[in-house]
Amino acid sequence: MKVTVTRKLPGCPEALLSRHFHDVIQLDAPRSLTAEALGQAASSTDVLICTLSDKITEKVLEQAPSLKCLITFSVGLDHIDVPAVLKRNIRLVHTPQVLTESTADLTWALILACARRLKPAMRYLEEGNFVGFDPSLFLGIELHGKLLGIVGMGKIGRAVATRGLGFGMKIAYSGPQRSDPYGTAVEMSLEQLLGNADVVALHCPLKKETTHLIGRRELSVMKPNAILVNTARGPIVDEAALVAHLRTHPDFFAGLDVFEKEPHLAEALKSLPNAFCVPHIGSATQVAREAMGKVCLDEAIRFARGESLKYEYHPTN
Ligand code: GLV
Repeated sequence: MKVTVTRKLPGCPEALLSRHFHDVIQLDAPRSLTAEALGQAASSTDVLICTLSDKITEKVLEQAPSLKCLITFSVGLDHIDVPAVLKRNIRLVHTPQVLTESTADLTWALILACARRLKPAMRYLEEGNFVGFDPSLFLGIELHGKLLGIVGMGKIGRAVATRGLGFGMKIAYSGPQRSDPYGTAVEMSLEQLLGNADVVALHCPLKKETTHLIGRRELSVMKPNAILVNTARGPIVDEAALVAHLRTHPDFFAGLDVFEKEPHLAEALKSLPNAFCVPHIGSATQVAREAMGKVCLDEAIRFARGESLKYEYHPTN
């Protein structure tokens, strides 16, 4: 059996794959592979291990007639034409759970950075403007007692909410999952949540229904000094609308780990003092990334042995 891995992955070494597969192709694509390159890589493989920057389209799948199992080093599946995969009876595996805590931590890093104006404060210091303690310098917002609105109360949303309780915040949530593990969170419509929350954290998957879920109208109902954090997927937010909103609302802050046209970062987001951007590092801790790679490795081995898979995606999930 042959396995192809599109990139070197922590926790999924070629040497271990070689013990279970006759043929192991380890690519080291520095960036996203083109559809041609992906199609070529997948053309004679039984198992393909990819990342979220590899777009697995119908065109790629057409070139991969022997593909039986597709494993993605991500929880998100929006880079994959899922119906096209399932139609071909290709098993589909992802890496949920193991990145929950790391992604929740990064969400909080962005919330705190926005609340305490860390980007302009650091710039100010580095540019040599600090001449002494100033009682009115970079006044942020105190989170204690404020409302944290979670859009998408899945595993990551709940982990972000748990941290919010530790900061003394009240919790509201919206989305299809009805989940209040603490007995204190309030379910709201999206509109209600946006209008009332001091911090809004997006944790829903990217789907047709969630594309541009947050646009001009939604931003306009948010508090003028709210914080919006997106560690889910870029296209959930209409980026042009967000940039316009940040320009006209200097007390509104956005913390972004993901972008609409990733890896492209809009010029305005680089320079606006109220936009904090990091390069899709939600799950980027040693522990989480190694665990994600180990899920990929173990699932590939289970598949090769004909054993049942633990992280297979089923459409009802
Ligand atoms: C990260 O964004 C993931 O989907 O794993």
